[in-house]
Amino acid sequence: MTSDIIVKAVPCLQDNYAWLLHESHSGQTAVIDPGQAEPILAALHSQGWTLSHIINTHHHGDHVGGNLALLAATNAQLYASAYDLQHQRIPGSDSGRAHPLHDGQPLLLGTQPLTTIAVPGHTLGHIALYHAPQDTEPGLLFSGDTLFSLGCGRLFEGTAPQLWQSLKRLRALPANTLMYAGHEYTLKNSSFVRYLGLNSPELEEYLTKCQQKRSKNHPTLPNLMAIEQNLNPFLRADCPKVAAAVMNHRDVEPGLANQALSPQEIFGYLRRLRDNF
Ligand SMILES: [Fe+2]
Repeated sequence: MTSDIIVKAVPCLQDNYAWLLHESHSGQTAVIDPGQAEPILAALHSQGWTLSHIINTHHHGDHVGGNLALLAATNAQLYASAYDLQHQRIPGSDSGRAHPLHDGQPLLLGTQPLTTIAVPGHTLGHIALYHAPQDTEPGLLFSGDTLFSLGCGRLFEGTAPQLWQSLKRLRALPANTLMYAGHEYTLKNSSFVRYLGLNSPELEEYLTKCQQKRSKNHPTLPNLMAIEQNLNPFLRADCPKVAAAVMNHRDVEPGLANQALSPQEIFGYLRRLRDNF
């Protein structure tokens, strides 16, 4: 959280998080990825906040399921990628209150700009929302199902090179950015990192903290991008250690040995190894 934007997790469905963002000067409040309406309305009520923005990172049901009920219960405006709105796959796209977001476009929450970053791969219309660090306050990244702690989204619509490009854009964000993802997958993803043999004291230290949080039923998120940049193998497909780990698991991909693979090819194999894990 920054002094200008307060962020609150709202657990939804099985393991989703919707994120409430409250801008303290204007009193405006956004929800990112409401998988359900009821828990959002309950959280708004308990905080005394009024919903002004509904933002979807992508069209999957567990990220948009609350749209219609929230549009009915509030005067909020709806924001989603131009691609997803054009394809009419966002509930409420025909409400007259839907606004398209394009890559690089700033969206104002009160006085605070959130920048749209197009991150195709998990789906073709996927976007992330970013608020840059200010003075000593960390930045905020809402990554949906593109970047998870220690993992990334599955390839439902895009290609591995597309998702690798998208992740490289997120990787380039400042290290003091807090990453808020769409799911609580951190501990599950850590098993895959260990399976790859990419253990390190830093990973163990991070996981100890995450396990403590989960034992109290707290989210492991947000996480600092500095930690993801160091520990998330999906952000490091161009790192020789990660490439070597993929090659060591080539039993699932016979014929990989002796080939010089590009980072995007390494990334593709890494994603496939995770799919079969
Ligand atoms: Fe998704």
